[in-house]
Amino acid sequence: MILPCDIRYTDSMQSLVNKRILLGITGGVAAYKSAELTRRLRDQGATVRVVMTPAATEFITPLTLQALSGNPVHTELLDHNAEAAMGHIELARWADRVVVAPASANFIARLGNGLADDLLSTLCLATNAPLLIAPAMNRQMWLNPATQENISRLQARKTTLLGPAAGDQACGETGPGRLLEPDEIVQAIAASFKTDQLAGTRVMVTAGPTREFIDPVRYLSNRSSGRMGYAVARAAMESGADVMLVSGPVALEPPDRIQVVEVVSARQMREAVLADVSLFDIFISAAAVADYRCVETAGQKIKKEDAGMALQLKKTPDILFEVSSLSSPPFTVGFAAETESLAANAKQKLMNKKLDMIAANQVGDGVGFDSEFNALDVYWPGGSQFLETAPKEKLARQLMELIVKRYREKEEV
Ligand code: PMT
Repeated sequence: MILPCDIRYTDSMQSLVNKRILLGITGGVAAYKSAELTRRLRDQGATVRVVMTPAATEFITPLTLQALSGNPVHTELLDHNAEAAMGHIELARWADRVVVAPASANFIARLGNGLADDLLSTLCLATNAPLLIAPAMNRQMWLNPATQENISRLQARKTTLLGPAAGDQACGETGPGRLLEPDEIVQAIAASFKTDQLAGTRVMVTAGPTREFIDPVRYLSNRSSGRMGYAVARAAMESGADVMLVSGPVALEPPDRIQVVEVVSARQMREAVLADVSLFDIFISAAAVADYRCVETAGQKIKKEDAGMALQLKKTPDILFEVSSLSSPPFTVGFAAETESLAANAKQKLMNKKLDMIAANQVGDGVGFDSEFNALDVYWPGGSQFLETAPKEKLARQLMELIVKRYREKEEV
């Protein structure tokens, strides 16, 4: 098969397929290597968007990077045209990884101090995506305690350091401070995704609330925004899985690269899940399925004639339990939303619902539901781990790592 010249996948080079890399380039002689890096990232199937600092444009032209990345290059924070096309917050959200290569001493200092005085530093602060930096500078600058202090600070904030390498430098000196070779940087980025973890695996995730109608205009529901489930679906996709997301009504953008099935009620969610779940290896139930529905839904809007009224409710199907009770169930992960006795209730659900794992979260005013943050107590038969408060995206990646580990262990038995 002949592929277009800008797509050259080989069997061993698929690790960044569909991944979105925001490549930041700062001012330094090594900026010329960013051109090669961009090409190699695309060779591996990544989509690359480039952001350059003004100093970087002195070393290599945005036009070169535009041609190589196939996307417009972003240079200004306050550029109305660029903002209209893809604003800086949108760019920050778009990225699966932010990679700064080369990262100059000056940029590292600004990042270490949390400055947001140009587009790239602002993006680094605004993104939820993991940040990787590949320093490049003169060896004395690298060894200077000020630079080392800034690096330690960034590492303490979980920034991944790529290099630097040691060797001959553009200034004629020899020592540490050389930018890693493009291939080494690509390998490190691919490793950060751990894409091989779930390659060839199918993961189904449910998310959001369900609505149980009382009449055509009123329903019973809950405060789930869908954020946690959507983040879990994305984390599974990042780990290399084929993902189906069965979603209740939410105000979130459907994540691309994930098959989304939209449902409204618990019964519809059950139908959608049971129709396909036998094709899946892992089932993660993050949806806040309404526990009750009306015995009868009125055909017309109910008139408020009486001072009070009673609704007769019946239980909705327990979708999670139905899945875990299948004759050949997938690895089944539930969530537990609790306002009290978190651990005891979660362990009970783990057992009663015959789950492989359960992620318990405290819900109530401003936590768990409808918040960008969450914390999870994760339990499985014989073990547990606490995942401390973090943005749901980060938490979802951590939860995914636990799921993968337990899933593989179970497979080996
Ligand atoms: O959507 P967000 O705003 O981001 O909030 C995230 C969340 C709090 C909704 C999420 O983290 C969470 O806890 N989801 C599960 C909520 C819930 O319904 O918990 P539960 O303890 O009532 O149910 C236990 C498990 O059974 C859950 O996995 C649930 O999906 C499942 N269930 C419940 C009832 C039912 N009829 N069918 C089910 O499958």
